[in-house]
Amino acid sequence: MIPDKAPREDVYLVHDLKKESHVPSFEKYKELYLKSVENPTEFWGDVAKGYFWKSKHTGPFLDYNFDVTKGKVYVKFMDGATTNICYNLLDRNIHEKKLGDKVAFFWEGNEPGDELKITYRELLQRVCKLANVLKSLGVKKGDRISIYMPMIVELVVAMLACARIGAVHSIVFAGFSAESLSERILDSQCSLLITADGFYRGDKLISLKVIADDALEKCKEKNFSIQKCIMLKHLSKECSAPSPALGSQSPPAKRTCPNLQQERKETVKKARPLPQIPWNPEVDLCWHTLVEDASDECDPEWCESEDPLFILYTSGSTGKPKGVLHTISGYMLYTACTFKYVFDYQPQDVYWCTADIGWITGHSYITYGPLANGATSVLFEGLPTYPDVSRMWEIVDKYRVTKFYTAPTAIRMLMKFGDEPVRRFTRKSLKVLGTVGEPINPEAWLWYYNVVGEKRCPVVDTFWQTETGGHVLTPLPAATPLKPGSATFPFFGVVPAILNESGEELEGPNEGYLVFKQPWPGVMRTVYGNQERFETTYFKKFPGYYVTGDGCRRDKDGYLWITGRIDDMLNVSGHLLSTAEVESALVEHEAVAEAAVVSHPHPVKGESLYCFVTLKDGCEYGAALEAELKKKVREKIGAIATPDYMQNAPALPKTRSGKIMRRVLRKIARNERDLGDVSTLADSTVIEQLFQNRCCTV
Ligand code: WTA
Repeated sequence: MIPDKAPREDVYLVHDLKKESHVPSFEKYKELYLKSVENPTEFWGDVAKGYFWKSKHTGPFLDYNFDVTKGKVYVKFMDGATTNICYNLLDRNIHEKKLGDKVAFFWEGNEPGDELKITYRELLQRVCKLANVLKSLGVKKGDRISIYMPMIVELVVAMLACARIGAVHSIVFAGFSAESLSERILDSQCSLLITADGFYRGDKLISLKVIADDALEKCKEKNFSIQKCIMLKHLSKECSAPSPALGSQSPPAKRTCPNLQQERKETVKKARPLPQIPWNPEVDLCWHTLVEDASDECDPEWCESEDPLFILYTSGSTGKPKGVLHTISGYMLYTACTFKYVFDYQPQDVYWCTADIGWITGHSYITYGPLANGATSVLFEGLPTYPDVSRMWEIVDKYRVTKFYTAPTAIRMLMKFGDEPVRRFTRKSLKVLGTVGEPINPEAWLWYYNVVGEKRCPVVDTFWQTETGGHVLTPLPAATPLKPGSATFPFFGVVPAILNESGEELEGPNEGYLVFKQPWPGVMRTVYGNQERFETTYFKKFPGYYVTGDGCRRDKDGYLWITGRIDDMLNVSGHLLSTAEVESALVEHEAVAEAAVVSHPHPVKGESLYCFVTLKDGCEYGAALEAELKKKVREKIGAIATPDYMQNAPALPKTRSGKIMRRVLRKIARNERDLGDVSTLADSTVIEQLFQNRCCTV
């Protein structure tokens, strides 16, 4: 477990924060940790006192079963208590904490100079307006709403409007394809879609509405029709300006339409093509027209603790994404508490998380955690490399960012350009640096610490998952001596263990499966509409434990090191993908008979996709086909899944029972001849052939 004393050698200690820190020493961390796991009711009960409850919980404070052999797996925190998360994030901060005039978000657009800011009070008004619109469209508590939007303030408005009326949001990352969006709409049976006309990522125009329409068509093919689609004009701002419409009718025009988009300050005007906006008057509605006349007051819907808050899809090893379901109170307490301690949040902070809200990091640490604490955040639409590789540090100086949270892949990419683009800006406001999403290699960690943070700022390497709702293994900035590449120790309430293949807990220095022994408030409650899949995926392998799917090593000092996924998943630039998902996209191509996808190390992305494809008889392999196959994957899943390497595989190595030996393919991809035991191979001649055909760019 956690050592009594933290090691003093081979570690990085940062003292600057101690004066103001919530947890100023390792001893204090340990004391709070022990309380949190020995008496979770008291610990989380104290956290809950900071929030508004319309009525008290009726059942036990915490009730759960993690053991599949004893019946249904469930977790309930504060069951029966009533509250509203939007009320806690906004109204409570405005009225009780007097933060109405505090900036909630500094929005920084893709184009430097395109910006706006919004206070807590203004945010509440926007949320109420949209909440009233949703109600007038017939949306009720428990209804699912799909949101497919760029990184703009209205995305937060849309999420919180759902939360205010008890509707369940299902946000789909705006980089996902029409196919992926339709799959998610269908699975959660959403009644309404909220989207935007389009956005720019760097120089690239993404026509969201076109993709959204394509997704709705695909839903129709499966006999499912969404009732309404609300579209925000983000690029074509003036509501009165005629849009370049594809359909017969343009979106309804209004003379004046004061909206957030019109408050944007754009010092740099670029003449750029606008997105096409297909318009179906039976389904489509204009955001601005709808909110214009809506009241900016809306009573919150009082919901129960265990009512669903949102669904967020994450890759599953079977290839079909899982709808991870989070519920209201536990998620609120956990994201609020982790945000406060892990970033050592102080009222004067300006916090910036570079993730997209379409992923869990954005849900928990752009919207819910920071707003619950009354924090001021930067919300960034663009890319770290646009218009140049100094953009991040320019933004840090511009808003005097104190706490900065990004992904190892971004750090590795910026590192390639050397120190100069970083040194161009002072970064003197920075106090804490965070990373998330994948293991960070010590070299990138040290560059982040030495160059970006100039040895002043602790690096919090936060390990967690869509399923965990918030950080589960993480240092606390002023308390935990750091080791580059280690996520260190558990957060409050989290009890990790390392198991061997037979499910025995391993003590001391060791390596095995990372599992958790008891719930914390933010853990997922089920897979939406599929409790069986929830239990099979996370609880069947080792009854009594939540199984993360990650490997983990404990060193002699008790530090935990994530070693990566141990299932058929891979992590490309911090995005989790399943190999099965990519394989099924490849075999959809008429020329492909079979495909096997494995992970290949990548200097910037961490991992990348290496695909082996076997063609049908009579089909020819070549550059044109490769391009088609890559396109197919992009269309089916999204650009993040574009394969890096592809090779023709006249045959795949299989066991006598017909199972593809991915372990062997992984070695071939890396050109490692030491294949281990291949005695179960049905035909060993394929191996040599595959080595010879290796993709020469690797
Ligand atoms: C990986 C992202 C090592 C891990 C919040 C996990 C990490 C998966 C870290 C979840 C970290 C995340 N160190 N690996 N600090 N953070 N991972 O659901 O494999 O998108 O299971 O959630 O990312 O990815 P997800």
